[in-house]
Amino acid sequence: MNTEENGGRINPWGTAQSLDYERLFAEFGIEPIETVVDELPEIPPFIRRGIVIGHRDYQQIAAAMRQGTPFHVLTGFMPSGLPHLGHLMVMKEVVWHVEHGGNGYISIADREAHAVRGISWEDCDRYGREYLKVLFALGFKGKTYFQSRNETVKDLAFESSIRVNLSELQAIYGFGPETSLSHPMSVITQVADILYPQVDSYPAPTLVPVGVDQDPHLRLTRDIAHKFRMFTVEVRENYVSVRSKNAPPAALERIHNLFPGSRLFEGHVDIFGETAERVSTVAREVEREHGGYGFYSPSSTYHIFMPGLQGGKMSSSIPESLFGFYEEDASVRKKIMNAFTGGRSTLEEQKRLGGEPETCPVFLLNLFHLAEEDVDLEEIRRRCREGALMCGACKKETLSRVMEFLADFRDRMDEVAHLAED
Ligand code: TRP
Ligand code: SF4
Repeated sequence: MNTEENGGRINPWGTAQSLDYERLFAEFGIEPIETVVDELPEIPPFIRRGIVIGHRDYQQIAAAMRQGTPFHVLTGFMPSGLPHLGHLMVMKEVVWHVEHGGNGYISIADREAHAVRGISWEDCDRYGREYLKVLFALGFKGKTYFQSRNETVKDLAFESSIRVNLSELQAIYGFGPETSLSHPMSVITQVADILYPQVDSYPAPTLVPVGVDQDPHLRLTRDIAHKFRMFTVEVRENYVSVRSKNAPPAALERIHNLFPGSRLFEGHVDIFGETAERVSTVAREVEREHGGYGFYSPSSTYHIFMPGLQGGKMSSSIPESLFGFYEEDASVRKKIMNAFTGGRSTLEEQKRLGGEPETCPVFLLNLFHLAEEDVDLEEIRRRCREGALMCGACKKETLSRVMEFLADFRDRMDEVAHLAED
């Protein structure tokens, strides 16, 4: 994910953790989440707590939630290992949006895991089901699928591939002559994932919650979604103009007929006395009647990553960076009690200066997952800052929250295990 290592590009398969978010946002056009919070009917905990920090076009999702109009929410997981703490946040984001009216979709990216990470199909299957179990335990409702078994996704990937060329992929991902063909294939499959809800159900704004490392895929998909469109709808001073990009003439005529009093020209229809919104809806319908898709460009939100307990990256390849959902108590205890903290080198110093919760993995564990109530979290933050809370005691408190969380979560996973098997 280090842009330096990839010619100024974001590398979705990279490993570096250091990210200068502000620079990334400025460079790639991601907007700070603050620009949209006022439009939300309710501010979700992951925004309130500073976990989701950026977005593209989240306005259209906020509007759908406010107005009660349909929207989809989709994300994907690469089954390259067992799910762990680091995956929970994005799952909670999906669940929250489903609870607020979204149609939920989850892709298990087994094609990507097999092609890019060399995971056997058998393991993809086993790991994929574990992800689904965790999702269902969190209360996910909606559709789930494995990429390799979704014919619509595979066909849509192929259709999408017609709308992108190698130099675009080179510019976005830095692909070169040595790049395995499986990389572009994984990319285009992910594009199809993101567009899939609109084909499976109907065109509607689609939210894709992800980490910043996935942004290249979002930029590409937005570009391809636009290329799929037959029309653009443009608002002029006192009329709305439907312009053909590559629509069959019959489709443009149909638009003309659907709006009495509109004027048909070579390549466009001008419509008077209608809102852009209604015209757009009709244009999408006509597009679908004529073999198109009527896609909305997908929206996305970007979350920060939880640091590993050891203070670096959280990854299943670094055992001390995290604990698993089924890890033995003694091992979980050891990892928490040995965790890196934002504490000072001596107790005296900590009492005098206070700790630094914002950089402390133990605090962030509470912030991401353990402290349900904001007041409880603020209490930990305050006591830490004031030097009233020492790391040893804080870790013990955190450990008991972890144990409670794990016991409860295992029960919930057992209860929903059957859902992941079907
Ligand atoms: N590439 C993603 C990852 O590495 C997984 C993924 C596949 C995905 N399809 C998706 C993410 C669609 C978001 C939307 O984690
Ligand atoms: Fe982190 Fe707790 Fe120590 Fe503060 S007191 S630095 S929150 S472990």
